[in-house]
Amino acid sequence: MKYDFDKIIDRIETRSTKWLKFDDPNILPMWVADMDFQCPPEVIEAIKKRADQGIFGYTERPIELTSLLQQRLVERSGWEIDPEWVTWMPGVVVGLNVACRAVLRPGDMVMMPSPIYRPFVFAPDNMNRGMIKTDLKNVEGRLELDYDSIDQLLSEEIKMFFFCNPHNPGGTMYKEEEITRLVETCEENQVVICADEIHSDLTFLKNRKHVHLAQTSKTAANNSITLLSPTKTFNLQGLPCGAAIIPNPELRNEFRRSLRGIGAHIGVFAFTAAVAAYSKGEPWYKALMQYLNENRTLLREEISKLDGLSLQGPEATYLAWIDCSESGLDAPSDFFINAGVGVHRGEWFGDSNFVRLNFGCPRSRLEEALNRIKKAFSQRN
Ligand SMILES: Cc1ncc(COP(=O)(O)O)c(C=O)c1O
Repeated sequence: MKYDFDKIIDRIETRSTKWLKFDDPNILPMWVADMDFQCPPEVIEAIKKRADQGIFGYTERPIELTSLLQQRLVERSGWEIDPEWVTWMPGVVVGLNVACRAVLRPGDMVMMPSPIYRPFVFAPDNMNRGMIKTDLKNVEGRLELDYDSIDQLLSEEIKMFFFCNPHNPGGTMYKEEEITRLVETCEENQVVICADEIHSDLTFLKNRKHVHLAQTSKTAANNSITLLSPTKTFNLQGLPCGAAIIPNPELRNEFRRSLRGIGAHIGVFAFTAAVAAYSKGEPWYKALMQYLNENRTLLREEISKLDGLSLQGPEATYLAWIDCSESGLDAPSDFFINAGVGVHRGEWFGDSNFVRLNFGCPRSRLEEALNRIKKAFSQRN
């Protein structure tokens, strides 16, 4: 194989956030959403080449970056965007915060599904704005929007809906009809949708592609902010770079005004990496998806053997949202961590009956984690 996803690489010396989390060195960190794989070799090459020049002054966005994104979107999902719609920024969480700043006036609120990746919850609070949660429905393990709850909760104050598709932590890849229903509800109530689609390249279903919310109708395009990034796809989280795609010119201007001076510079190497990844990273990405899919199959098989644990999907993302509600464990996260498997605590996302396990790691590490989980289960009294 051209790419060695089995290779074990020490990440502590680079002060990896993932690997510094647990004081106990025997705990395998499987929490935050980055993978223990080297990024595409073409990206490493491009960064080395750029470093060799040795001058790292103020740097304009590479000319080709927007058209590379545009091309990728057409090829992968048939979404045709105008380059003018795109605003680059240093990361997608920046975009969530700026969206709150741009759309919500004092007293306004954002509605968001729950459970959810915590920075969604922080964003309105950071801007002194309110938020309200709508619980996702667990339909045989698939986390789905509860339209009745959304209808009931909608009020004058709610001016934005945070949509996360594919969903983190649930891994749901929403179908076109699910998205359309959300778009219609939001349009009727004059609610802008901010769609975080950062995980949209990491999909596993054979019969269905990711559908971008903004491509479903003119209404959807006109009423939305879509956030995308190469960083999850190509494992470049330390080189933050993201795009907000906003077809509506008024909304776009307000977003740009709110970003100005705050989300200022994108790093030189982030630009270099994004261009190399989009233009040359495809073979690596294809091999990655195959490897991740095999990890996913292994994880699902082994988890299904354990009484009281269940894992449906994920339809997308390398994050497994494991349901422990039937396990009888009082504190599932503690149980996993005490077993030496450093999961992300479900409570951080809003549901302590779950743990989130990142399977973007070498197979041997996943096998070791599974052995530890099985052993801990077998030793329960
Ligand atoms: C849904 C979602 N949005 C945003 C981010 C982070 O984006 P960034 O690092 O570009 O701020 C993550 C990272 O896990 C995520 O899962």
